[in-house]
Amino acid sequence: MSLEHQHKLAALHKYISTSSNTTTLMSSKTPLAPCHHVVPFTVVFTLLALAFLLYRIKGTTAMKKELRWLPPGPVGLPIIGSTHRLISNKPVFRWIHRLLKEMNTNIMCLRFGTVHVIVVSCPEIAREVLRKNDAIFASRPITSASGSFSFGYKGSILSPYGEQWKKMRRVLTSEILSTALERRFHGRRAEEADHLVRFVYNRCNTAANSNVDVRHVAQHFCGNMIRRLMFSKRYFVEPSVASAGAGPGPDEVEHVNALFTLLNYVYSFCISDYFPVLRGLDLDGHEKVAHGVMAVLNRLHDPIIEERLHEWSTLRKHGEKREMRDFLDVLVSLEDSEGQPLLSFEEIKAQTAEIMFAIIDNPSNAVEWALAEMVNKPEVMEKAMHELNTVVGKGRLVQESDIPHLNYLKACIREAFRLHPYHSFNPPHVAMKDTTVAGYMIPKDSHVIISRVGLGRNPNIWIDPLEFQPERHLMSCSNVVLTEPDLRFMSFSTGRRGCPGVSLGSSVTMMLFARLLQGFSWTKLPGVQTIELKESITSLALAEPLILQAEPRLPVHLYESM
Ligand code: HEM
Repeated sequence: MSLEHQHKLAALHKYISTSSNTTTLMSSKTPLAPCHHVVPFTVVFTLLALAFLLYRIKGTTAMKKELRWLPPGPVGLPIIGSTHRLISNKPVFRWIHRLLKEMNTNIMCLRFGTVHVIVVSCPEIAREVLRKNDAIFASRPITSASGSFSFGYKGSILSPYGEQWKKMRRVLTSEILSTALERRFHGRRAEEADHLVRFVYNRCNTAANSNVDVRHVAQHFCGNMIRRLMFSKRYFVEPSVASAGAGPGPDEVEHVNALFTLLNYVYSFCISDYFPVLRGLDLDGHEKVAHGVMAVLNRLHDPIIEERLHEWSTLRKHGEKREMRDFLDVLVSLEDSEGQPLLSFEEIKAQTAEIMFAIIDNPSNAVEWALAEMVNKPEVMEKAMHELNTVVGKGRLVQESDIPHLNYLKACIREAFRLHPYHSFNPPHVAMKDTTVAGYMIPKDSHVIISRVGLGRNPNIWIDPLEFQPERHLMSCSNVVLTEPDLRFMSFSTGRRGCPGVSLGSSVTMMLFARLLQGFSWTKLPGVQTIELKESITSLALAEPLILQAEPRLPVHLYESM
């Protein structure tokens, strides 16, 4: 109870006791009978007074509700708020996490110009945003980078809530990510998993000391996989030499780098996003980077998309159809109720880019970190190998159908998602109306960002949060999955804007991990005592790409028959 209420109660108490003293005095002078009327009067008066007090307390609370405060946060300057601190505190995500710690809060409000950025760093409040108030927070911000990367919000991931988002999300969930198509393209994914093993095997036989750059392998596995699913090609220009075991060419390297750059810049606290009048001046250089990324994606994607549009338009003219070979065929062949193409060139470009960048970062980063942690913890590595030996054995290669039985391996990936997310924050969710979260006022148009490390490394949720302990995920369930709808850490998120690619994302991640572990023994380079598990200064990725020695551990014919 507030001091103000305590004073009010004391005053009321005093008033009531004064009144009762008066009645007592009166009663001594008046006949007993009237006294019988005095007692009920005191009771009635007291009840009325209490009712009045309760009404006042309720009234004040209601008023307070209306004037509810914003979450705590640094005091900003007039007009610009804390925008100046975006310049002096790079990388911004580390500054925000320092502030959360200094202010000892799980919810914080930063003001950049007129935009309130609400940072959430505990599962309970995250659930309030993404589950309880899911419908209110179902939009995304308009930013310079997200506008370019989505060709003017023609796709789904980056689009604000509205008809375009609904249309493209429907296309993704019911066409591209349908169970039927996933089953149909199983062969493609299996071929890529074989290619991965063949590539590492060749590295073992050719590279000095069988050194393998795990980051390179993991990122390019994801790149190859998604190009195969999207365009039916691993290479933009097929190499003239037989490609068995060949690595990425310059275009593929440029492609994967562009996708990672896009992900690193898409929501990166660009000043002109809070002061749109500054757009074009490119004060922090983000616009130039975004143009560079788009130039690469357009150069590599456009000719393929144009050719396919032409092919399907010819088929349409002749009233013909053919089987869907890949995701692009699906996008290009979709028709509206009048038999016209459902998606425009821009929409297809936007959706293609989105599918590409949706899959590139999380699987590769999780597998790189998991391997780094496991090489430092032989007991964890041993348990994983034991599981693979028991469930799959050494006589065949692990397949997608084995994944349901590889609980310990899935627990390792969950642990990597928990402890080492690629992004420090979830993509921002925008409040579509004024609301309250954790008792604080969240104004309409606020950007809510959920800290992934705030969830995954939260000491109130996890024992020894900085320790890599896959066992913690085995305790609560017999069938381990990579999703975490309770948001005790962030994997695929939840709610209306949650990830629709859970099934594809899980199988790509698990096949990458399981094939690398089953196919090879991984050890530190000679002279290295332990792998330094240091994060990069500018991101949550390992500071240096993980380089390990790999040794084939299966019968030779398994590698050579692929
Ligand atoms: C291990 C792999 C993956 C992980 C960990 C992952 C995780 C996430 C997360 C955390 C979000 C943000 C959700 C939010 O804003 O609350 C998201 C959004 C999204 N993901 Fe994934 N994802 C993965 C793979 C994929 C794949 C393979 C696809 C499809 C090709 C995909 C498509 C999407 C889409 C379309 C959205 C945006 C949904 C919307 O805004 O409506 N993701 N993903």
